Amino acid sequence: MAARDLLDEGERLDLDALRALQLDRLRNSLRHAYTHVPFYREAFDKAGVHPDDCRDLADLSRFPFTTKADLREHYPFGMFAVPRDRIRRIHASSGTTGRPTVVGYTHNDLSTWADMVARSIRAAGGRPGDTVHVAYGYGLFTGGLGAHYGAERLGCTVIPASGGMTSRQVQLIQDLEPGIIMVTPSYMLTLLDEFERQGVDPRGTSLRVGVFGAEPWTEEMRREIEERFAIDAVDIYGLSEVIGPGVAQECVETKDGLHIWEDHFYPEVVDPITGEVLPEGEEGELVFTSLTKEAMPVVRYRTRDLTRLLPGTARVFRRMRKVTGRSDDMVILRGVNLFPTQIEEIVLRTPDVAPHFQLRLTREGRLDALTVRAEARPGAGPESREAAARAIAAAVKDGIGVSVDVEIVEPESLERSVGKIRRIVDLRPR
Ligand code: DLL
Repeated sequence: MAARDLLDEGERLDLDALRALQLDRLRNSLRHAYTHVPFYREAFDKAGVHPDDCRDLADLSRFPFTTKADLREHYPFGMFAVPRDRIRRIHASSGTTGRPTVVGYTHNDLSTWADMVARSIRAAGGRPGDTVHVAYGYGLFTGGLGAHYGAERLGCTVIPASGGMTSRQVQLIQDLEPGIIMVTPSYMLTLLDEFERQGVDPRGTSLRVGVFGAEPWTEEMRREIEERFAIDAVDIYGLSEVIGPGVAQECVETKDGLHIWEDHFYPEVVDPITGEVLPEGEEGELVFTSLTKEAMPVVRYRTRDLTRLLPGTARVFRRMRKVTGRSDDMVILRGVNLFPTQIEEIVLRTPDVAPHFQLRLTREGRLDALTVRAEARPGAGPESREAAARAIAAAVKDGIGVSVDVEIVEPESLERSVGKIRRIVDLRPR
């Protein structure tokens, strides 16, 4: 257990006090959603439940789930529970189609978020006075600004590097001497290559801790990063719909899964098919209910992330295992979320290609790569095929924000099984 004087008020609760606080907050949050968001009122009424029916934390399982599709249907502001003039910030994440999922924050929500990221950085080993290099992207993505305000809240100096310009990142790390870096694990590997290209020893930097998330990564990657940079590498988890980064964090002293900050975000793990709540320790889909959010409360939000819940160790809060995969077809490519349906929209509007395509995931060196293979329309010549490939690659870069390879293949050449093309072919080594 970390020294008690390092912990904040929420982290010092004992288990009974935590459960009592959660129940109180849960009842308020259900009431807030029911009173101010027509979507929740209708969904609760339809399921025959009322916020007053929640007398026990286990009663939450009687309430209906919320999905990304629900958020998309109420785009952009239909899930907000406060008037627009109380919203201080908007972020957005990829939707399953061109429409992003929009999320909003009040003044208090931004403050809670900063507190949770500050708590996360502290659990990772950061302290007031540290310098934090933030290489998560700044913008509508929650990574950059989320990390930024959390680091400031903890009392750190922030280097708001954002993503990209790899050689400059290496320069900044050498010159400004940050102790902590916050970045996607895949980009950390790109930085590693750049250090080596420049002939700079990555073990010789000022960095001591890396806080990595926004995409799944493995114990092997942890070992490689820790060894090659001589740092501690810990996992941070979050999603825009729940708040952003800082929903759960691995503690540096144990590195045994991520403690969920469950005084603010109440977790359940359910069977992805039946929706049944699973006992602690069983693998299933992670579901969150916000306990304190004002602008956009979420009730039983289906993350689609697969993991298991375990009792707390370094903190009183329950842990989640590293996320092992998803129960939908979302692909996370170098930190960018992408749905096959987004590619479909692009392929459909590109001349000279048929609406038949396949996504091939491979690993080049240590980085994941994606090739979009789309069938040419009969009669499309080499020039129009090339133009189509360029158009698709540009539209993916523009609209989704990630570089992919595109191959235009012969009509009817993609393998079909019972008439269907397998959308995703994952050739990455396990
Ligand atoms: O990725 C928030 C974030 C930013 C987390 C920076 C950590 C660091 P979204 O863009 O909404 O938000 O994507 C959320 O990313 O449902 C997971 O599938 C995946 N994800 C996030 N963190 C992890 C992680 C941000 N540590 C989606 N391990 C989530 C595995 C993660 N997957």
